[in-house]
Amino acid sequence: MPSLAPLVPSVLLLGAAHLAGAVQVRQLYQFPEATFIENIAVRPNGHLLLNTFANASTYTLDPSAENPKAELIAQVPGITGLTGIAEVAHDVFAVTGGISDVANYAWEAGTAQTAIINFSKKCEKDGKPTVKTVAKGGNTTMLNGMTALPKHPHIVLHAGSKEGNVFRTNTATGAFDIAFQDEKLGFSADAPVPLGINGLHVRGDYLYFTNSAQLFFGRVKITDKGDRAGDIEEIARVETVPGGAAYDDFSLARDGTAYVGLHPHFLVKVAPDGKQTVLVDDSGDIVLAGPTSTALSKDEKTLYVVTGGTSEASGGKGQVVAVTL
Ligand SMILES: *[C@@H]1O[C@H](CO)[C@@H](O)[C@H](O)[C@H]1NC(C)=O
Ligand SMILES: *[C@@H]1O[C@H](CO)[C@@H](O)[C@H](O)[C@H]1NC(C)=O
Ligand SMILES: *[C@@H]1O[C@H](CO)[C@@H](O)[C@H](O)[C@H]1NC(C)=O
Repeated sequence: MPSLAPLVPSVLLLGAAHLAGAVQVRQLYQFPEATFIENIAVRPNGHLLLNTFANASTYTLDPSAENPKAELIAQVPGITGLTGIAEVAHDVFAVTGGISDVANYAWEAGTAQTAIINFSKKCEKDGKPTVKTVAKGGNTTMLNGMTALPKHPHIVLHAGSKEGNVFRTNTATGAFDIAFQDEKLGFSADAPVPLGINGLHVRGDYLYFTNSAQLFFGRVKITDKGDRAGDIEEIARVETVPGGAAYDDFSLARDGTAYVGLHPHFLVKVAPDGKQTVLVDDSGDIVLAGPTSTALSKDEKTLYVVTGGTSEASGGKGQVVAVTL
């Protein structure tokens, strides 16, 4: 694959001048009570899976329904919050979570784990997918975004937002280790957001990721097994805004375009050459209350954005928003 990395990352100065203004934004659902939605995935049938901090619950939502509604579909026992989600086999999803240490944007050390939600294996009593913890997360205090390795999808990589590294779990054997570590994956003590690497996804030979505290979207070459094979390159940066800006989790289209949630309320498109465009800002009818992650529909015509409900107006009630691209 030819290298598309710009030598100098593009810098986004937040402001109305960047607004593309061409996208349609529709709120599909907002939780009726305070519920932080941390991540999203799309099932093969097009239904959405929403990972929340509400009792480590995964909800499902059919975006094609007339009045879409989130329904509880799975809960991971023994923990309180869920972060990453990745499809590891057809209609089988790995999720990660732990016991929340809310003040530190972290898990209590030693509580992180990875569980498998298997939609082809149903619980006898309620017909819901089975949920099974398959690996512990060592002594880490955060496994954040997660992605499956394309050539070995039962192996997932996690964003080690606290330790500044990429962790790896083999969901078939339960093996957990550090794939690699770098200063560019961590955060400094004076960072406004105490989270380094946050979202991560593989395309081609590269692992793409966001670093919330260091305010950039970048990539690093990796091997098929997720080991590091090159230097970290910055593709796009953002200048901070009053109250603090931070890139969160994102999705990658087949052509390499990234759709990145940017706190406090932006959706940013990053072209493969690094050019950034703000697709959604706070000037429309629907204001994103802390966009935590995004996912593309199978036809890549719709982008789903989920939020933590982190604005005064939203009162902690996370949203599911559909953006027509
Ligand atoms: C979820 O946790 C809250 C407390 O944080 C509790 O009030 C509620 O009953 C729990 N819901 C379920 C479905 O367990
Ligand atoms: C999911 O469940 C199916 C049906 O029981 C089983 O064949 C498959 O191995 C399971 N997949 C994983 C990854 O656990
Ligand atoms: C566990 O903690 C020790 C000491 O902080 C550290 O050296 C080690 O790398 C950690 N292990 C993992 C898997 O994070």
